[in-house]
Amino acid sequence: MKIVIIGAGGRLGAALMSEYREKHDVIGFNRAQLDLSNFDGVRDELRSTNFAVLVNAAALTNVDLCETERDRASLINGEAPGVLAKVCRDKGAKMIHFSTDYVFDGDKRAPYIEEDEANPISVYGESKLAGEKNVLAAEGPHLVVRASWVFGPDRPSFIDGIIKRAKEDEEVDAIADKFSTPTYTLDIAKMLPHFFSGNVEGGILHFANAGECNWQQYAQWALDCCHEAGLPLKARTVGALKLKDMSNWVARRPVYSVLSAAKYTELTGIPPRTWRDAVADYITRFYSKK
Ligand SMILES: NC(=O)c1ccc[n+]([C@@H]2O[C@H](COP(=O)([O-])OP(=O)(O)OC[C@H]3O[C@@H](n4cnc5c(N)ncnc54)[C@H](OP(=O)(O)O)[C@@H]3O)[C@@H](O)[C@H]2O)c1
Repeated sequence: MKIVIIGAGGRLGAALMSEYREKHDVIGFNRAQLDLSNFDGVRDELRSTNFAVLVNAAALTNVDLCETERDRASLINGEAPGVLAKVCRDKGAKMIHFSTDYVFDGDKRAPYIEEDEANPISVYGESKLAGEKNVLAAEGPHLVVRASWVFGPDRPSFIDGIIKRAKEDEEVDAIADKFSTPTYTLDIAKMLPHFFSGNVEGGILHFANAGECNWQQYAQWALDCCHEAGLPLKARTVGALKLKDMSNWVARRPVYSVLSAAKYTELTGIPPRTWRDAVADYITRFYSKK
């Protein structure tokens, strides 16, 4: 299977590259190799590249930056996915496009399903929703995969920041009134190939590890796993912060954005493992020897 991965230098894209390199014929493009803001360049490069599946893991992911860089967010997250989707359709290739739990407003208190109405409350969420619509409008067998709170070894995220702070300080804290599900890049890499075939129906699909938590619980579990793995930390417990304490945040964020993976489980017959198992695995594999 010939696969193109856009955003190959990012947290998710790099994980997909390393997971698929052995089994598939993979071509990765990082931003320096393919800039999504240059639509003509993107068309030229991809039209002359032979592939069956294109995964777009590139995006402007800095949620606060998007508030002040609306045009750039709209171009990269909104319009560029549509350009990719049309090139793929014209070539008879399938596009798998990554989107986010931030397309929801967070007013629900049960896991969001694919049919729930998206109602973004940030420029990032708006731009990502526009990208979803543009991909689906191209009418290929394309798939939009929404994920939440993505972590993995290829680029630091919240969990790595917490572990770093816990090594340096006796007190660490994290937000206790914002809920979703940490989702491991290497688990996403295992979930995705079920949908590589052009014969598998497209549309929207939620990918997440099982369960839900707030950031304080996420951080506490990470520290517990580090202690279990024998990693020396100064902090043992994580204090609680409130969303309203985050005065330096520019963008609004959904308070509750848990994604239901029920449809994924129904389609594949394989339920994702829990976020706690995924975090424990990550820490054992990537931290216990540090
Ligand atoms: N991170 C999360 O918690 C999270 C949650 C839900 C959904 N998602 C979605 O999951 C996908 C992957 O996210 P991630 O965590 O891997 O983010 P990431 O680490 O920020 O990776 C995004 C990649 O896109 C690249 N990029 C930015 N602008 C570009 C452009 N103009 N042309 C080409 N490439 C460009 C970035 O390059 P540079 O590094 O050079 O800027 C980066 O390598 C995204 O669609 C994101 O919206 C992420």
